[in-house]
Amino acid sequence: MILRPVQDTAADAEVVRHIARAAFAALPDAPPPATEPAASSVFQLARTRHLTRTDPQGCWLAELDGEPVGTVLALRREGVWVLALLAVLPRAQGKGVGRLLLERAVAYGRGCLRGMLCASPSPAAVRRYRLAGFTLHPAMRLTGRVDRAGLVDPGDLPVHPGNPTHRHLLDSVDRRLRGAAHGPDHELLLAHCEELLVADTLAGSGYCYREGGEVRLLAATSKRIATRLLREALARVPDGVEARVEALTAEQEWALDVGLEVGLSVETRGYLGLRGMRPPAPYVPDGGLL
Ligand SMILES: CC(C)(COP(=O)(O)OP(=O)(O)OC[C@H]1O[C@@H](n2cnc3c(N)ncnc32)[C@H](O)[C@@H]1OP(=O)(O)O)[C@@H](O)C(=O)NCCC(=O)NCCS
Repeated sequence: MILRPVQDTAADAEVVRHIARAAFAALPDAPPPATEPAASSVFQLARTRHLTRTDPQGCWLAELDGEPVGTVLALRREGVWVLALLAVLPRAQGKGVGRLLLERAVAYGRGCLRGMLCASPSPAAVRRYRLAGFTLHPAMRLTGRVDRAGLVDPGDLPVHPGNPTHRHLLDSVDRRLRGAAHGPDHELLLAHCEELLVADTLAGSGYCYREGGEVRLLAATSKRIATRLLREALARVPDGVEARVEALTAEQEWALDVGLEVGLSVETRGYLGLRGMRPPAPYVPDGGLL
């Protein structure tokens, strides 16, 4: 088996997407592949190309007899190492491919004191991540249709659409919460999410992205602002679209409370894996950029 860097090409991005799709589709609770929104595929392809540019030494393909069978994508941002993706084709699993890929990605994070990843419920993934030194925080997800009758908000904290001019604010909030900004990843998120919402008041600041029904990457300097942002984002989920908020550890009870207010269901799913840090709060990570 050889490991080779993922190239910044459409062909390699497609190979990464194919491996990820096949690997995740084989998980016991995977949704049928046909239900994957087109926007999600476009985002996966764009994210791979983005990371091959920002973190070429964190992006690898494993090849067996010339055929790609596994992939890993990792990034470094201001001293935080993040695992964006680890996937091995079902037919090649259990033979050490995942271990080698993860070792290569972890080596790329050498010198970073903190590490973050979102783990699927796969026992093989849990074994790999724990052996790599990550503390696994069980996570919950909220899903369902938003019951607008539950969206009672005092409206005393203004929230408005954000744009690239808010980069300093976004970076400042992230540095305070997790010790590192997302930096260039905001360009990717701004290009691929339906909207960015920003709160910037005397009481504190925060932001969140929404793509369709999915609320992702929410960070705020107080629970009050985080709650306001989540309510606003859920209010903007189009009628008839299922809302989804993932990777919520017990620290994010404020988010569970908002979800319960508007009739979403809570289930456990996967883990937030962390090294050298406690779960940032109030914070909803993006599963692939954390
Ligand atoms: C997680 C994943 C990348 C691991 O790849 P892999 O090539 O199978 O990994 P390895 O063979 O190196 O290691 C798997 C380990 O889990 C163990 N394992 C496999 N199934 C297991 C199970 N049901 N329970 C406990 N351990 C299990 C294996 O014995 C092996 O441990 P060992 O090497 O110490 O013996 C792969 O299973 C995968 O793509 N899963 C679906 C996608 C996914 O969940 N990705 C991670 C999401 S964050």
